[in-house]
Amino acid sequence: MSTGKELKIGLFGFGVVGEGLYRVLHQTPSLKATIKKVCIKDATKKRNAPAELFTTNKEDLLFDPEINVIVEVINESQPAFEIIQTAMLQGKAVVSASKKMIAEHLPEILELQQKTGLPFLCEASACASIPVIRNLEEYYDNDLLHAIKAIVNGSTNYILTKMFEENIRFQDAVLQAQQLGFAEADPKLDVEGFDALFKWIILLNHAYGIVANPNEILFSGIQQIQLSDALVAKEKQQEIKLVAQATKLRDGGIAAFVLPQFVKKEDHLAFVKNEYNGVVIESGFSDKQFFYGKGAGSFPTASAVLSDIAALRYDYRYEYKKRYQHQPNVLSNDYYLKVYLSFEEWDHIPKENFEWIEEWHAHETRKYLIGVIHVSHLKDKTWWKEQNISLILAPQPIIEEVELKKIQKKSLELAGVS
Ligand SMILES: NC(=O)c1ccc[n+]([C@@H]2O[C@H](COP(=O)([O-])OP(=O)(O)OC[C@H]3O[C@@H](n4cnc5c(N)ncnc54)[C@H](OP(=O)(O)O)[C@@H]3O)[C@@H](O)[C@H]2O)c1
Repeated sequence: MSTGKELKIGLFGFGVVGEGLYRVLHQTPSLKATIKKVCIKDATKKRNAPAELFTTNKEDLLFDPEINVIVEVINESQPAFEIIQTAMLQGKAVVSASKKMIAEHLPEILELQQKTGLPFLCEASACASIPVIRNLEEYYDNDLLHAIKAIVNGSTNYILTKMFEENIRFQDAVLQAQQLGFAEADPKLDVEGFDALFKWIILLNHAYGIVANPNEILFSGIQQIQLSDALVAKEKQQEIKLVAQATKLRDGGIAAFVLPQFVKKEDHLAFVKNEYNGVVIESGFSDKQFFYGKGAGSFPTASAVLSDIAALRYDYRYEYKKRYQHQPNVLSNDYYLKVYLSFEEWDHIPKENFEWIEEWHAHETRKYLIGVIHVSHLKDKTWWKEQNISLILAPQPIIEEVELKKIQKKSLELAGVS
């Protein structure tokens, strides 16, 4: 596909994102991209576009030789994968926003790109309007990317903002988010951290060349956070955010997780309120860079899809340099985390798993502690997601083996033991 060539689009999905794209394309005639056909599921729904545009037969798009771009923005993971697979095997470039599908099928998608040499672009799938994927791909070299920390889910950020700023209870904040259209009808995907996890898997690939399976990443959502946790954060002049983090450790491994985290007021992520997303990238020599914008919604998401369509005009495709041109990074499972836990009963906490506990408090209804624990006591374990326990990371949560040894040695010296 070369510059100047007309792009004929087959669009799958005419919901929040699909209809947004339809409208946005009408306002950008210079792009020379037109939607030839739209495939939807329910033929009886009323649409804000000419009836002859629509079909429920996917083959009308996938086997039309005139259509050279498939834009896939449907809300079902397996059918979405089948669509993009057939499209690429039919020689069509693909643009997709479906993070769940991409996260669940990443190895196959990479293989399809290798096999066909065709572009598969997905800027809208992580942080929607924030152009983070292409930046990670093109700008940051493997060696220089020290860490990436982000708020990638707007609904949970909205809920946390309301809990903090208006002292609203969790369930009431979820209800508000639903009424405003920020949270899914079934808010589980957002609230329990799945949506953020899917986005993080996509970004880990573009940042570090890591192809992770969803069950390899330590994650949770905000479902266990209590109003009392928000009050503790306030006392400490901090906020609680659902933070996706990936940090390069001294041994070269990558510590990656999606967990609630205390964030200091001066942290860039504390600035990210309501339904917004934010990404902080730490790289050698340039220190920190902060990306901020809308991570969901019709036009913000459509704008990222539009940018991918525009990029197809100059044959842009991801090269996955971090994966194919470097030694790919690997996920580490050997580091310690400084965590805050709030809970109802001391018996619910396996205290023997902690390296040390440096603070503990008992209020009438809830108790909390701050301590250091090896990641293996959390990964694939469920105790910290049960019995109304709330786990929140400390602001600088990662402690590596060497640091731990130094701290232990120092405390023994202070105690006069060595
Ligand atoms: N909404 C956002 O802000 C946002 C942001 C970033 C990424 N995304 C991702 O973008 C995708 C679309 O999201 P959305 O919010 O636009 O969803 P949505 O409003 O629920 O719309 C989904 C659309 O997909 C169609 N569809 C479902 N299954 C289909 C199938 N098998 N074949 C053809 N069409 C099918 C539906 O058809 P009917 O109209 O006939 O029901 C509907 O038009 C999702 O993967 C989502 O995760 C969304």
